[in-house]
Amino acid sequence: MNKKIIIANWKLNPITVKEAVDLAKKVDSENSVICPPFPFLSAVKGAIKKSKLGAQNIFWENKGAYTGEVSAPMLKDCGVEYVIIGHSERRRHLKETDELISKKVKAAIENKLIPILCIGETPEQRKKRVVEEVVKKQLEYDLSGIRNLKFEIRNLIIAYEPIWAIGTGVPCEPEEAVRVHRLIKTLIPDSRFLISNLQIIYGGSVDSKNIEGFLKYDEIEGTLVGGASINAGEFQKILKIANKIN
Ligand code: PGA
Repeated sequence: MNKKIIIANWKLNPITVKEAVDLAKKVDSENSVICPPFPFLSAVKGAIKKSKLGAQNIFWENKGAYTGEVSAPMLKDCGVEYVIIGHSERRRHLKETDELISKKVKAAIENKLIPILCIGETPEQRKKRVVEEVVKKQLEYDLSGIRNLKFEIRNLIIAYEPIWAIGTGVPCEPEEAVRVHRLIKTLIPDSRFLISNLQIIYGGSVDSKNIEGFLKYDEIEGTLVGGASINAGEFQKILKIANKIN
């Protein structure tokens, strides 16, 4: 079984390289991934010894005339091993579609970066009780770029992040997340995908008080932490709990 992985999504924080390095040093820990903003990647890489480095986004072409974009080979050269793809904030504010996301997943896999693909339903979809259909559709579209790859995909992380739980302080009930994680598992080991290590994690208002309630389930193989990951003391507590379970 995989060790539980704790991924810190710093989003648009902090402001300076110094703050980023200070925070990274304080939360450097086994089985964790730190995803700082692009300008801090190299400095954070230099500051960590145990954590792995992740990015928050990627472009699907490796190079060329694409102003403002950052490619997989560039990320790899900075020491990045993981990349968050399809976060709901990018789907919403940057209008990222499933089509773009599927190209990004493919670019990550082809360049041997581990994608952390984020999926999850809106509050309206939850109210309409169409969570299963939404998750199924997102997986179908977002993984369509890697469906026919001829080689085995070593690692893929799916982060189930119900949108209504992100940044709200109202997490999903762990039992509800477990049900969706089981569904994701049944949808992915499909003959069209050769994935040797699939890890399904939960994200949305995870903190040091509720993390144990998620990680105690085998189906929840880690968490994606936003707000609580930029508070060193709080994130240290989260890591301590996760490492005790590991
Ligand atoms: P949150 O964010 O922990 O602040 O809810 C999680 C995420 O957006 O990945």
